[in-house]
Formats: sequence, structure tokens, C-alpha cells
Amino acid sequence: MLTQYLCIMVVVVALYVASLVTAAENMTAAQLLPKPSYHGGATTYNAKNYGAMGNGANDDTKALMAAWKVACGASGTVTLMIPPGTYYIGPTQFHGPCKASALTFLLQGTLKAATDLKRFGNDWIEFGWVKDLTVVGQNGIIDGQGAASWPFNKCPIQKDCKVLPTSVLFVNNLNTVVRDIMFVNSKFFHIALLQSNNTRMTNLRISAPEDSPNTDGIHIERSTGVVIADTRIGTGDDCISIGQGSDNIDIARVHCGPGHGMSVGSLGRYVGEGDVTRVHVRDMTFEGTMNGVRIKTWENSPTESLAAHMVFENMVMKDVQNPIIIDQRYCPYYSCEHRYVSGVTIRDVTFKNIKGTSSLPVAVLLRCGVPCHGVVLEDVDLRYKGQGATSSKCENAMAKYVGFQYPEPCT
Ligand SMILES: *[C@@H]1O[C@H](CO)[C@@H](O)[C@H](O)[C@H]1NC(C)=O
Ligand SMILES: *[C@@H]1O[C@H](CO)[C@@H](O)[C@H](O)[C@H]1NC(C)=O
Repeated sequence: MLTQYLCIMVVVVALYVASLVTAAENMTAAQLLPKPSYHGGATTYNAKNYGAMGNGANDDTKALMAAWKVACGASGTVTLMIPPGTYYIGPTQFHGPCKASALTFLLQGTLKAATDLKRFGNDWIEFGWVKDLTVVGQNGIIDGQGAASWPFNKCPIQKDCKVLPTSVLFVNNLNTVVRDIMFVNSKFFHIALLQSNNTRMTNLRISAPEDSPNTDGIHIERSTGVVIADTRIGTGDDCISIGQGSDNIDIARVHCGPGHGMSVGSLGRYVGEGDVTRVHVRDMTFEGTMNGVRIKTWENSPTESLAAHMVFENMVMKDVQNPIIIDQRYCPYYSCEHRYVSGVTIRDVTFKNIKGTSSLPVAVLLRCGVPCHGVVLEDVDLRYKGQGATSSKCENAMAKYVGFQYPEPCT
């Protein structure tokens, strides 16, 4: 069977190559360029054949989008290769739907963002409406060049602010793999996942200075089936944040720090927010972060929703300010109204095997609004980095304690 199959494949490939050669006779040079190369069953398109220069100076936005259009429109298994070089680009959309049955975006070079903010909307690079997309690096770097724009970000201090562009937005995709890429210095978030189902992100490095504003590593929203694993994130904001309407999120072996740690939320701020359910976070290390694992929800929520069925387990905390924190009175601004308790109900959340050091004395803070249901702490050992003991603080937490507990549980 296998030999037969191979023979047929050889014939098919030979015919394909022969047809290219004969068809070539009547083609102009322009039609002949670019040539896709065909090997291993996949057709490869090289971005440089579509005018991308990769010299760090030329604006390669249009060329990369042209190359994508051809790759996306081709049939079968297709690779769009961005060879080594620095590609200076403004807002760039890689949109489907694609004809290709599977599409690989192979980044061997560096994508470097333009710095003129007037060119941008809410994001820089968009992968959208694509099925079976793999974005993979071979020494690939995505550089948001954020330093020039950070001074213009007023969001940390102002509620109604203009947001700066997220480096890479994945929107409305199905079955996506993102792996082996380094992200640096986003203007705003490094990666955002929006309405994308079945996404797997592995072996990423995300890095920005500790004092850079809103440079979250990965933000997830209205997405289901997300795996993030074996990744290192150190930025000025959340390492990973899980926003409203997300379900079935599995995060493992991520090193966070510096930054604000891992966060569910903030939730309950806008009308019509969806629930966050089935979140499993495990085998993480937090180093010098503001929070370890945090669930944060706003007061005065216009819509009721649920944050439920979550397990955070096997975490090492190294000098983390708030290793375990539920905050249902989240308010990052000077003045927030305290009219109604948060409309988000927290249910069935387990923190298990969480160990290490806290850089503030309150190592466990469980501040619920309407009472939380089914919060469990199991085998917690968090020591104060300074002199003295750590403590717990609770409001309406109704927590259940199992196994070893340090700090002492709330009474
Ligand atoms: C090339 O063009 C000529 C004239 O139009 C035609 O007769 C010939 O079949 C073409 N060859 C190929 C390989 O398409
Ligand atoms: C993702 O799943 C949701 C809920 O199952 C569905 O409504 C939505 O259309 C899906 N989106 C994509 C891009 O597959």
C-alpha cells in the first residue's frame, strides 16, 4: 500500500513540475515570479518574492499582505515564509477565510512595528477568520517598538482613555497553533485572543520592561479551548489575563515575572459580559510579581455573570506581593463608586499546593462581594519575605480549608 501510494505521489509531483515547466514557456517574467516551491506536500511562498525587502527600513506592510493573500488563496497545505531579515511594518491584516486547507506562517525574521501612532487603530498585526493556522518562529521576533508610545498611554490613570495598539490580535479563528516566537516591547498587549476557538500557544517568550504600561503578555476574551504552555512572560502588566466569555482554558508551566501576575478578569465592568468557566492553571512560577493568581471583578456591574470551576495548582511564588487574591472590589482609579457589590458570582475555585514567599504580609486575600461559593484552599505555604508572619484577610469568602495552611486561615 505504502509503495503504491509513494509511486502515485512521485507521478503526481512529476506531472505538477512538468506542467510548471511547460506552462512557463508562454508566461512573462512577471507571471513567473513569485514561484512557490513545492516539497513535502506543502507549497511554500516566500514573502521576499512579493516585494518584502526585510532591510529594516523599507515599509513592507503591503508586500507582506500581498504575499499572505496569495498563500491564503492557494489550495492544499501552504506555508508563507518570512525569511531572515527585519520587516518594518505598520498595521497589517492577515485575514481569511483562506482556501488553503492548512496555513503555516513561518517567521524566520523580525517583524518590527512602525512607531507613528496615527497610523494605528486598536492593533498592529491581525490574524483573523482563519481555520487551521500555525504561526511558528525559527528565530522569529515580533517587536512592537513600544518605548516611543508608552508615554502616550493614559489608561493606567484614566478610565476613558485611547488604547494603544495590541501587537498581535487573533480574532475569529478556529484551530490555531502559535509557537516558538519571541515577542518584545508591545505598545499595549503583546497578544490578544478574541473569539478564537481551539488555540494552542507553546514555547513563547514575551518580554517588556517592568515599568511599561499595559504590556500584558496574553489576553484571552470570548474564546474557548485555549492551551498556553512552556512559556516565559515578563512585562509591565498581567502575564496572562482571562477576560469575559472564556471557557475551557488550560495554562501550564508558564514562568511569570516581572509584572502583575496571572489574572482572571477584570470582570463585570461592561454590559453583556459572558461567564468565565473551566480554568485550569498549573505548575507555574511567579517571580517578583505584584500578584500570583488573582480573580478581580468590578463593583456596580451592569450585567450579572459567573466566574466558576477554576483550579490553580502547583504554584511556586518567589517574592510575590499578593500570592493568592480574590478582589471583588477592583478599582485601579482614584475614585470609584461603591454603590453595588460586584455582579460577578465566584463559584468553585480551588487553590492547591501553593508555596513560596510573599513580599507583603497579607499572603492570602479573599475579598468577595456577594459571598463566594466553594472556594477551597488546600496545602498553602506562603512565608513572609520580611520579618514576622504572613496573614489571611477575608470578606464573605466562606472558604473551606484542606491540608496544611500557612498563613493561618481567616476565622
Ligand atoms: C503557448 O502558446 C502557443 C500559442 O498561443 C500555444 O500553441 C502553445 O500550446 C502554448 N504552450 C503551452 C505550454 O501552454
Ligand atoms: C467558537 O465557539 C462559539 C461557541 O461554541 C461559537 O459561537 C463561535 O462561532 C465559534 N467561533 C469560531 C471562530 O469557531
